Parts: sequence; C-alpha cells; structure tokens
Amino acid sequence: MDISSKLEDALRSAGQEHLLRYWNELSCDEQRELAGQLEKIDFAALPELIRDYVLNRPKTAIPDDLGPAPYFPLVPRSDAERALYGRAEQKGRELLRAGRVCCLTVAGGQGTRLGFDGPKGTYPIGPVTGRTLFEYFAQNIIRAGKKYGHKLSWYIMTSALNHAATVDFFRKNGWFGLQEEQIFFFTQGTMPAIGYDGKLLLAGRHTLSLSPDGHGGTLLALRKSGALDRMKKEGADIISYFQVDNPLVHVVDPLFIGMHALEQSEMSAVMLSKTGPFEKLGNFCVSGGRLRIIEYSDLPAELAEKRGRDGKLAFVAGSPAIHLIQREFVEELTASGSLRLPWHRADKKIPHIDGNGEQVTPEEPNGVKLESFIFDALPLARKTMVMEFDRKEVFAPTKNKTGVDSVESCRQMLVDRDAKRLEAAGVTIPRKADGTPDALIEISPLEVLDAEDAQTLASAKNIVIAPGEKVVL
Ligand code: UD1
Repeated sequence: MDISSKLEDALRSAGQEHLLRYWNELSCDEQRELAGQLEKIDFAALPELIRDYVLNRPKTAIPDDLGPAPYFPLVPRSDAERALYGRAEQKGRELLRAGRVCCLTVAGGQGTRLGFDGPKGTYPIGPVTGRTLFEYFAQNIIRAGKKYGHKLSWYIMTSALNHAATVDFFRKNGWFGLQEEQIFFFTQGTMPAIGYDGKLLLAGRHTLSLSPDGHGGTLLALRKSGALDRMKKEGADIISYFQVDNPLVHVVDPLFIGMHALEQSEMSAVMLSKTGPFEKLGNFCVSGGRLRIIEYSDLPAELAEKRGRDGKLAFVAGSPAIHLIQREFVEELTASGSLRLPWHRADKKIPHIDGNGEQVTPEEPNGVKLESFIFDALPLARKTMVMEFDRKEVFAPTKNKTGVDSVESCRQMLVDRDAKRLEAAGVTIPRKADGTPDALIEISPLEVLDAEDAQTLASAKNIVIAPGEKVVL
C-alpha cells in the first residue's frame, strides 16, 4: 500500500516523517492501521502545539483581577434565600419527574495513582460487600428513576484504553439491573504523546503512542458519538456530570438542579470548603466577570494562603468536579465539529520504540501528554452557578491506595454517611471514643438515595446494630 502523498507531505512539513520509518517493513493491515491513526491528527496545527506546550513550558496565566468566586452557601443566609432554596428544590423535583435530566460519568482516565489494573469504575469500593464504583452509581440511578417516576439515562465516557473492558463488565453484571438501553457508552478522543524533542512517539512500528485527551474531550465526544442527539430525542436538557472516582456523589440532586434552572445557568458547579490552602482541588475564581477553575497545581501559593479579615481562606471554594451542563450549551460549543479548550501539559514516562525499533521503558519523564479539562468551558458560559454542599454528603474520591483521598478514606466516608443517615432516622449507632461508627455499615444504593429514603428504610425495619458488627441493609 502506498501512503497518500498528501499525508506524507503533511508529515514532512510538520517535521514528523520519522513516523513512517518502518513503513516498508509493515504488512498491509499494519500500514492501514498506522495510516488510520495518522489521518486523525491535525498535522497543520501540530508545530504550534509543540512549540507552545512541549518545547516551551506553558504557565497558566494568573490574571491581575483574579478573585474568589461567589456561591450559594450551604446554609441560606436569609429568609428570602431560604425560600429560594425551597423553590429550587421543588423545581428540581419537577424537572426530574419530567425526565429533563440525564447522568454522565467520565470514566476514561487511567487511574494510575490507584495502581489498579482495569477500568477504575470496576474497583470494589463497598466497605462490606465490595460493590464496585459503577454499581453504586447504577443502583442510585435506578432508585432515582423510581423515586421521580422517570427512568434516567446514563451516559458513560470511556477511552480507547478501557472501552471494551468497561462494556464487558456491565454486560457480565447484567447492566446492574438497568435496562441496557438506559446506558449509552461513548469513547473520548486521543492525543499523541510527544517526546521532549518535539517528535511524536511510536508505541510500536505501526502504532502511535496515544492517550486520552482529558475530560475536556467529553464535550466533543458527546456530539461525535450521537449522545447529544439521543438526549434531545429523549427530552433531556440538563446533564448531571460526575467523576467515576466518587461513590458518595448525588447522581442527581433536586436542589442543585432546581437552582441551576432558576438561575438559567448554562454550566453549574458544586463547591466544597477546602480543608486547607493546598488541598488538591480546583479553585473557583472569577476574572473579568467570568467564572473559572484554577487547578490546585496552578494557583500561586500567596493566593492559596491569602486570608480575609475573618481569618478564613480567601480562595476557600474547591471543586469536587460535579457539574450540571445544559445540553444546548454543549451543542453550541461544538456546533462547528471542533472545540478549542486550552491544553494542559503533563510530563510523563512514556514507553516507546526508538530509531532502531528497540523498546524503551524510561525511568524518568521523557515526554508530554496533553489533556483538556471540562471546567475550562465555564468561562465560555453566559451564565454559571456555584453552590456549596457538605463534603461528607457528596465527596469521597478514590484516587490513591492509602492516605488522603484513598480507598481507605472513601470507605470510611461511605460508612460515616450511612451511619449519619440512620442516626437521623432514629437508629442507634455504636460509636468509638473518637466518635466514628463502631460498626461497618453499608446501605444499598438501590434502596436509599437520600435522607428521606433512609427514614423510610429505618421505619420499615427494626434495625439494631451491635458494636463491631458488619451490617448490610
Ligand atoms: C480532578 C480535577 C480537580 C478536582 C478533583 C476532584 C482535573 C484536572 N482536576 O483532579 O479540579 O478538584 O478531580 O476529585 O480533572 N478522565 C477521563 N478522561 C481523561 C482524563 C480523566 O474520563 O482523559 C476522568 C477520570 O476517569 C476521572 C476524572 O476524569 O473520573 C478525573 O480525573 P483525574 O485525573 O483523577 O483528576 P484529578 O487530578 O484527581
């Protein structure tokens, strides 16, 4: 097979002709595979990308007028605000009953920090049963469908690296009780990995080294996969977005949804009060009247540590990456078939083959992977809304094996939340001297979506929990 002269020219003018080094040694199938990968790359845009993000080290520009973002607080500050929250919650319930909401989980990441071999959503996180992250979401989605009398569709974004394994896992588990057509899997795009010398890396003689293009890729992937059309057909216009690593999330929250609607927001965000200046959360900021999130690694220390007159952190608002996104906003952003969000550079150890065809497994970072972030769409929205939630209710990320944001801390938070809900419903919870529950409790997400459901569960059963017991409800 001859490589098209157009593609060959494009490679040459971008200084990437080394990608064809093994072309003549490849079988026809291998040539086709490589050509297919190359055709997806915008070689015309590549030199600028390499100059700006690889040969130079971009710094997130911190505007002079950067200030903390306003938000609706956890506890309303006035009677008027209390009434507004009441109206919002009612509005959210109405929208859920009318089928205007769908769920979206981003699950395309590689989960390297967790050191788990497999899609992260298949991780057994349940403190007693070991139910997986995916099962938590699936069962809560079923419960929400029953509660509001309208089945929710669930959009799951995978990447080329884990798509087949993810779909297979759902199939083997009978879609976790959901109807197969309630779930729509779609795959995000990829970006080529680039060596420090500005040359794209080859994973093998006929394959490029490619990696997922970041959760910013969700927006375009929603359009390309037909997910947006499907949502429209179903009458859903509010997308409830959350990450695969957080089993505590409210898959849909009536108050948040209702406030998003009342505020006519195009993209909204949940915020948490940070535990300290350097907690690893994106920071809600405003600049030029626009909401934006500045990643923890990019916020200068003097701003992170800045305090107001009351002694509280000025930039106290952290992002658990829980959003509501208006479908029409995504349609508009991606109407041209492309979307330019800024790229973010990550230095990585990238296995590849060298000029002699030898496999190289680097000990030190040798190149750059580029990702875009969904929250960079916030400043593009005409109207945004940020609302504070209690982290103990909505945020238990599973990022690391141990320590902060780990499997351990996530399981503890799941137990704490379930214990608190039962206690509020009148169940006696044995507690240790430090106040933590002296029992391992796991309530089925199929039964309990919220405090109200916990109340119903506690009234229906005589729940008695002995110290040290393992309880599954
Ligand atoms: C992320 C947010 C951070 C937020 C924190 C809350 C970024 C850059 N930062 O940090 O602002 O405070 O979560 O937990 O996201 N994913 C994909 N495709 C990709 C990359 C990631 O689907 O190409 C998904 C992952 O599967 C995961 C989520 O995005 O569900 C977050 O990715 P991760 O790399 O874990 O982000 P963090 O650095 O933890």
